[in-house]
Amino acid sequence: MTVESARDIEGLLKIGRIVGLSIQAMREALEPGITTAELDTIGERVLRENGARSAPQLVYKFPGATCISINDEVAHGIPGSRVVQPGDVVNLDVSAELNGYFADAGETVAVPPVKPETEHLLNCARQALASAIEAARGGNRLNSIGRAVQNQAEKCGYNVIRDLSGHGVGKSIHEKPSVPNYFTHRAKDHLTDGLVITLEPFLTPGTGRIYTADDGWTIKTVDGKGFAQFEHTVIITKDKPILVTAV
Ligand code: CO
Ligand code: CO
Repeated sequence: MTVESARDIEGLLKIGRIVGLSIQAMREALEPGITTAELDTIGERVLRENGARSAPQLVYKFPGATCISINDEVAHGIPGSRVVQPGDVVNLDVSAELNGYFADAGETVAVPPVKPETEHLLNCARQALASAIEAARGGNRLNSIGRAVQNQAEKCGYNVIRDLSGHGVGKSIHEKPSVPNYFTHRAKDHLTDGLVITLEPFLTPGTGRIYTADDGWTIKTVDGKGFAQFEHTVIITKDKPILVTAV
């Protein structure tokens, strides 16, 4: 969507904060021995207590309130009986709706003991999101975001997962435009003031090829390698974007 009023901005900031708080609650509860279903309940409680609804449930009938993906699972992991182990790398992705406004955010958290290479991957992915935020300004082309992410990934010796992109958001969970995490001439449109998009680089030390598992939801890396993703919903302005999902 493109924001058209103060009411739009208020509505987005409200759901954005709830999404951020939901992720924060799950991050704080994340430890070896907890199941992904238990984590999901914690994230869902924050949504419910604030009157918000899980977007994947609402829009896609996803079998969980949040997406929890571990190690070689890249996205849309279904919460369930899986028990978090020491050394796991866990992606927490929450999107939700309140009063017709949607926001989407995610982060990747390493459970101790953390390997140095995991630390490096997470730092680079965090830096890739920061670079995307820096590039996401009104007047820039959409592909300046992809260029920034790809440069950062390659500087660190990683690939981006090309089949996973940021996206428009706001009135629903997935809107136009697609926001590729690599440079492409196809993404030549200009970013306009008030446009609401997600920035969500996915970095991996592997090839970046992915497939959907037999459960019909979970996306995994073909080579079994891990990944890291950090995601914010942002509103484009002439200057730095407004971070909707920051808490
Ligand atoms: Co997203
Ligand atoms: Co997300």
